[in-house]
Amino acid sequence: MNFSDLVQARRSVREYDLSQPVTDADLKAIFDDVILSPSAFNLQQWAFVVVREAEQKKRLRAAAMDQAQVENCGAAIVVCAKLDAHNDAPTVFAQAPEPMRGRMIGMTAQMYGGNAQFARDEAIRGASLA
Ligand SMILES: Cc1cc2nc3c(=O)[nH]c(=O)nc-3n(C[C@H](O)[C@H](O)[C@H](O)COP(=O)(O)O)c2cc1C
Repeated sequence: MNFSDLVQARRSVREYDLSQPVTDADLKAIFDDVILSPSAFNLQQWAFVVVREAEQKKRLRAAAMDQAQVENCGAAIVVCAKLDAHNDAPTVFAQAPEPMRGRMIGMTAQMYGGNAQFARDEAIRGASLA
């Protein structure tokens, strides 16, 4: 399927065939793609929580304005925006040559460390794109 066909065919689906379980292999295939998403400074300001246990999905539904599809699914994925992703910069840029490495660590610390609102906005952008 080419990209245009994919976009044309996409829909928000809210009823699921629970006879088809969401397997660990399915999730791995999904997240192998997801983590290739672009992110500011490659900080990957996201974390994902997969909820498959019935009682936890019920609690999640209550937190999601009682939307039935949050509970009546094989797996609900909570997309989290990582507010302190700039602290990962030394790891993200571990292989980068100097002076690039130091510059990137300094820039991300300055841009996000000193501006919680910007860090939050950027994290929401990155997590949403993913
Ligand atoms: C930021 C955002 C929040 C959304 N929140 C919900 C939601 O809480 N519940 C839901 O069922 N759909 C939600 N949607 C899906 C939209 O309702 C849906 O994309 C829109 O109605 C268009 O339908 P389509 O995706 O089938 O083309 C959300 C979409 C976006 C982009």
